[in-house]
Amino acid sequence: MKRITIAIDGHSSCGKSTMAKKLAKEIGYIYVDTGAMYRAVTLYALRHQLFNDDGTVNKPLLKDHMNNIHITFRLNEENLQPETYLNQECVEKEIRTLEVSNHVSPIAAIDFVREALVRQQQQMGREKGVVMDGRDIGTVVFPNAELKIFVTASAEIRARRRFKELEEKGMPADYNDILKNVQERDYIDSHRSVSPLRKADDAIELDNSHLTIEQQQQWLLEQYRKAATE
Ligand code: DC
Repeated sequence: MKRITIAIDGHSSCGKSTMAKKLAKEIGYIYVDTGAMYRAVTLYALRHQLFNDDGTVNKPLLKDHMNNIHITFRLNEENLQPETYLNQECVEKEIRTLEVSNHVSPIAAIDFVREALVRQQQQMGREKGVVMDGRDIGTVVFPNAELKIFVTASAEIRARRRFKELEEKGMPADYNDILKNVQERDYIDSHRSVSPLRKADDAIELDNSHLTIEQQQQWLLEQYRKAATE
């Protein structure tokens, strides 16, 4: 089978990362969570007071800081899961808080942030053999990817999943707050002027609202086999 590039895009909290991570492990590919990169920039901006009081970003200041923001991924030696590092500090837990989720959309809408992160993502996938998940992987980062999947699920189902995930991590939150955050991010992600979330014309759509993780994984593996043998 040939080594290919796999782009998995879709709405927030629809299980893209889980499916992409599992697939990468199963077929021995590198997994890159691009949402984690936008989240890491957001965490940096929060820690350095780069947000204005009205929630907008102080862009000139952030631009000055961009060269000081280094994002990498390393495997956790115990559970073999990839973790996000910001300037050599593991921030895997910190980037998943509701505070970061609530501030990430304006960061992800900034052109110079996207340019810098897209460049890094293209670099990470230059040898192929990569599963990358995000919003613009099939449209901007790797428009020539051999396999493109676009994942969706209803906003209520996605909010319920994220609620459960946070609860399991010992970070309880309010379901209605999460639902509101999911809906707001859907709107902002699809309406921003730079790289809005949209399905690439040649992407295969998957609505996983009523699929189990196993059913979804089976389906994904089949798509991979087809694409890698074509
Ligand atoms: O997938 P996620 O929820 O962790 O993504 C966090 C935010 O980053 C989300 O609001 C959309 C944005 N994002 C993006 O604009 N482009 C990507 N390739 C990945 C994420």
